Amino acid sequence: MSTNELKLRAAKAFQDVCGYQATTFVQAPGRVNLIGEHTDYNDGFVMPCAINYQAVIACAKRSDGIVRLISVDYDNVQDSFAVDAPIQPTEDKLWANYMRGVVHFLKEKGYAVGGADIAITGNVPLGSGLSSSAALEVVTGQAMKALYDLDVAQSELALIGQASEHNFAGCNCGIMDQMISACGEKNHALLLDCRSLETKAVHIPENISIMIVNSNVTHSLVDGAYNALRRQCEEASRILGKVALRDATLAELNASAIEKGSDVYKRAHHVISENFRTVACADALIAGDLQKVGEYMYASHASMRDDFEITVPEIDYIVEVLTEVLGTKGGARMTGGGFGGCCVALMPADMVDQAKAAIEAKYEAKTGIKESIYICTPQDGAGQI
Ligand code: GLA
Repeated sequence: MSTNELKLRAAKAFQDVCGYQATTFVQAPGRVNLIGEHTDYNDGFVMPCAINYQAVIACAKRSDGIVRLISVDYDNVQDSFAVDAPIQPTEDKLWANYMRGVVHFLKEKGYAVGGADIAITGNVPLGSGLSSSAALEVVTGQAMKALYDLDVAQSELALIGQASEHNFAGCNCGIMDQMISACGEKNHALLLDCRSLETKAVHIPENISIMIVNSNVTHSLVDGAYNALRRQCEEASRILGKVALRDATLAELNASAIEKGSDVYKRAHHVISENFRTVACADALIAGDLQKVGEYMYASHASMRDDFEITVPEIDYIVEVLTEVLGTKGGARMTGGGFGGCCVALMPADMVDQAKAAIEAKYEAKTGIKESIYICTPQDGAGQI
């Protein structure tokens, strides 16, 4: 579904439920991370791009200080709360918590938000590692920014989305997903320094295709596994005497008291090596060396599988099939938080049909699950439509 189709759908639901026309339309994209997994909350580097799957809002101001949220994709189910009263998470409407949190933190940071009717729809696959939740958070901030003409930077909207995810959804995520959703650039990936929030746009030439293969094994990052991994990384950095694993080297890890082969060792080994790969991969992409890019992507996958232990057999199989097809001409790896979700591959555009055919012939036959394949072009981040 295109942006315009999503917009029409949100506009219609808005009119049906509210009985008047929306004044304002905004969107925020999901993302695919090309490389740099679980490095963001270690103050490290990531290289995602925003994709042509997004969350879209139709909205209008209300003068009574009430925010009414309408979930178009769930039969127009509603949630509402008063802006001026303390805003709390709800027990039963988990989707609304991401949005409530954003309004709460906008208010807490002193932005003059007010009431609104907000109808939300989207086509980012849920629980697939493509950041449907970040898109939901960022699009909510973008809606308030547009309606109330807030002087808020896109990176600040990202931080507010992250605060919402931590405090209203219970996942202690890093900043990657919200930053790329808020600040993405068309035809570019962003090399993001998650410590300084500096970004460097890395052009993706037209003759390189980004393929996403969704294993359709869904995950929930809120279930504690993600937070547990984060704690292991923090434990490693504490033992190493560093502010964050970003500051550590493999030599320091090997010389430390952390027992080789222990979980904490393996987590740190992944993060430290992944940081190096991410920066080197960006350089290789800038130099147009797709073979090198591919080497870093394959190595990133192996590290997530063996050291970080966040892949599942279905995901490993997709990467295996893509590796057979692409060889040294491209690269593939799992993308996102892990435990299911998607793989991403970079390849010469003329290899897309071949790669697709191989996955279609083999994945379902082996796993009993039908994959979904998306060919993505990097998009601009959130904004008004
Ligand atoms: C999730 C989190 C991100 C990041 C990735 C793993 O998407 O929201 O902050 O940690 O997992 O790279």
